Amino acid sequence: MKDDIEEVLISETEIKKRVSELAQKLAVDYKHKKLTIIGVLNGSLIFLSDLIRQIPFPVKIDTIRANTYAGASTFPKAETKIIHNININIRDEHVLIVDDILDTGKTLSEIIRMISKHSPLSIKVCVLLNKRARREREIVPDYCCFEIEDKFVVGYGLDFDNRYRNLPYIAVLRDGIMITPKTL
Ligand code: IMP
Ligand code: MG
Repeated sequence: MKDDIEEVLISETEIKKRVSELAQKLAVDYKHKKLTIIGVLNGSLIFLSDLIRQIPFPVKIDTIRANTYAGASTFPKAETKIIHNININIRDEHVLIVDDILDTGKTLSEIIRMISKHSPLSIKVCVLLNKRARREREIVPDYCCFEIEDKFVVGYGLDFDNRYRNLPYIAVLRDGIMITPKTL
C-alpha cells in the first residue's frame, strides 16, 4: 500500500493530537446537553470511532449513508442520495453530524436537510477535513480538524474506489493509481 502513496499530508501523530483537542472542545460545548452524534458512512468510520471514545459522557450514536461519488471516480455525481437514514429519536437532542470531509458541500447540505425534518434542538457539523476551494453550497463546518488544499486525499477513513480507508494517515496517491473517467 505504501508504494501507492505520493505524499503523506497529515501524519498519524498530528491526527491523534487534533482529534483529542476536538473531543475536549466538544466535551465542554456539549456538557449538560443531550448529544446525538450522527456519523456519515463510510468516510467518517475511523474519525467517528476515535472521536466518540474521548467524549466523557453518554452520547447517542447513529449513522446515515449518502451517495455522492460514483465508483472509481474523484468527480462528484450531480445529485446526493440518502441511501440509509437514521433510526433513533432525535427530537429532544442536540445533533452533531460527523463526516470525513467537506468538499463541494452537497452531501452535508442534503444530510442537514434530512435531519432537520426530525426537528432536533440543534444541528452542528464536525468534519476531519475542510476543502474550501471546491465549495458549491454555503456551508461552514462548526468543528474541523484540518483545512486542506484542493487535492484528492485518502486514508483515515477517506477512500479512492473504497480502498485506502485503512491507512492510518492522510495521503495523496501517486499519479496513475487514480484513473478518472472522461465524463461524469
Ligand atoms: P461533497 O458532497 O462534495 O462535500 O463530498 C463529500 C464526500 O465526498 C465526502 O464525504 C467524501 O466521501 C468524498 N470526498 C470528497 N473529497 C474527497 C477526497 O479528497 N478524498 C476522498 N473522498 C472525498
Ligand atoms: Mg467517500
